[in-house]
Amino acid sequence: MAAVKNSLPRRQFDVVVVGAGGSGMRCSLQLAQAGLSVAVLSKVFPTRSHTVAAQGGVSASLGNMSEDNWYWHMYDTVKGSDWLGDQDAIEFMCREAPNAVYELEHFGMPFDRNADGTIYQRPFGGHTANFGEKPVQRACAAADRTGHAMLHTLYQRNVAARTQFFVEWMALDLLRNEAGDVLGVTALEMETGEIYVLEAKQTVLATGGAGRIWAASTNAFINTGDGLGMAARAGLPLQDLEFWQFHPTGVAGAGVLITEGVRGEGGILLNKDGERFMERYAPTLKDLAPRDFVSRSMDQEIKEGRGCGDGSYVVLKLDHLGAETIQKRLPSIREIAIKFANVDPIKDPIPVVPTIHYQMGGIPTNIYGQVVSYANGETTPVNGLYAIGECAATSVHGANRLGTNSLLDLIVFGRSAGNHIVGTHPEKQHAHQPIPESAIDYSLDRVNKIESRTSGEKTQDVANAMRMSMQHHCGVFRTLDLLAKGVDSIEGVAQQVDNIYFKDKSKVFNTARVEALEVSNMIEVAKATTKSAANRTESRGAHALSDHPERDDENWLRHTLWFSEGSRLEYKPVTMKPLTVDSFPPKARTF
Ligand code: FUM
Repeated sequence: MAAVKNSLPRRQFDVVVVGAGGSGMRCSLQLAQAGLSVAVLSKVFPTRSHTVAAQGGVSASLGNMSEDNWYWHMYDTVKGSDWLGDQDAIEFMCREAPNAVYELEHFGMPFDRNADGTIYQRPFGGHTANFGEKPVQRACAAADRTGHAMLHTLYQRNVAARTQFFVEWMALDLLRNEAGDVLGVTALEMETGEIYVLEAKQTVLATGGAGRIWAASTNAFINTGDGLGMAARAGLPLQDLEFWQFHPTGVAGAGVLITEGVRGEGGILLNKDGERFMERYAPTLKDLAPRDFVSRSMDQEIKEGRGCGDGSYVVLKLDHLGAETIQKRLPSIREIAIKFANVDPIKDPIPVVPTIHYQMGGIPTNIYGQVVSYANGETTPVNGLYAIGECAATSVHGANRLGTNSLLDLIVFGRSAGNHIVGTHPEKQHAHQPIPESAIDYSLDRVNKIESRTSGEKTQDVANAMRMSMQHHCGVFRTLDLLAKGVDSIEGVAQQVDNIYFKDKSKVFNTARVEALEVSNMIEVAKATTKSAANRTESRGAHALSDHPERDDENWLRHTLWFSEGSRLEYKPVTMKPLTVDSFPPKARTF
């Protein structure tokens, strides 16, 4: 079907924010309060965005429970990242953390309280006092529903600030001019099936992760990497996509998240012999070692025949915490365990397995959230485009994220991007620029191709083939041979994606159309992941190669950049220089 030229409905805003999770709404709040016209697009009602599922806490060195400071937090984050994190961004995030959390407190976020009225903080994996000496209580918690509390607080504030929400809208493609400036997006209104052109002086991608490219995932069904697909199709690179985090404690067989906060409160992992095996792998931090470490240890136990039940999982014991603590601090965990594992953790341990949880890589940005390109040793912002939250690689998480640094990332960089837009692009500074028709046509043609096909591959068959392939080829432990097969397999699935069709062509709330479009985004992420992983011949953070078990700083202390066109790879250096303090040079990563 030929593209219909110039007939699409158009709307103009100062800023379009794509995604209404924690980062999107923290950014939009800053913008709306400054008086800019802001449209926030969300595939779901804002308070159902995936941030709502974050459980254990948001990190900040408040020092409410014992001594703490941002420099220790910075050290832990650099070490947690296996030195792939950019140290300027990490310093920025850890310094900003206390203010960002106090700001939420003043917004009315219902944190748990200590007897003296301060915010309750619990220990979390990899967060330590005095450069690794012992665990520190740094995770500011609202029971085990911290993301829920945060998201509702931000939504209420945005409503008060008159942010305009476009609920059940899906962004389709970035609109760029010849100079490469981003001028807005095309978007699908699901209720009507209409496609709109949303013109914006600034576009902010806050679309979250793409954990749904795996079969077993703690991620919501909406986490389909839409922003990453849009960026990749617009010729922008995706950074460090070989690094995916397995959360150690997904409910076995169900994938639902059991917060690391359980171990923060004193829960322990046991093998079939009842042994607290993490004491062997991480003598200092034990069950509170970073997630890549704990996930590998669990995988090892299972592979060496010490798994529980049918041998495919280990268990998380928390009955010794007592019913009162479980009901007060971990109420949702109890509910999840009863519903999804059929065990009451007040009495019995929960069967758990490492489960895909978080993408460390994403769209490369600087600390202001500006998307950046890299050429000839130079980093240059892409005019008009920002990315924040899980869809961005800022890069504070490097090769492995510490638990609770994700909620922190959302609010620090959401706020930073908002401030940058307000500071450098005041409302009347420049008018909307003309959008080339070819940019709109590209997007319409893409949708029309899927729309007009009357036979081919079924969306869910192709999505499932992708998910099974990712699960098989890109696990906790990888080998180069397996990854090379993964590249071929995903390339094969990509050809099927080009042939997807759906029968129901109706316009109103046609979820078949939405799912087909989501698969076209997910496949970009799957291609980036397999190709980037197959080329990195070392083990670092969450990328663990059985056949190359060592980290190789000489050759691989660098970021991967993957380009969709030709599945091409480039590399760029890690920023080792922080903003104001001395760098933390690489060293062995033991816990
Ligand atoms: O375990 C958790 O509560 C997850 C937190 C996170 O991913 O930061």
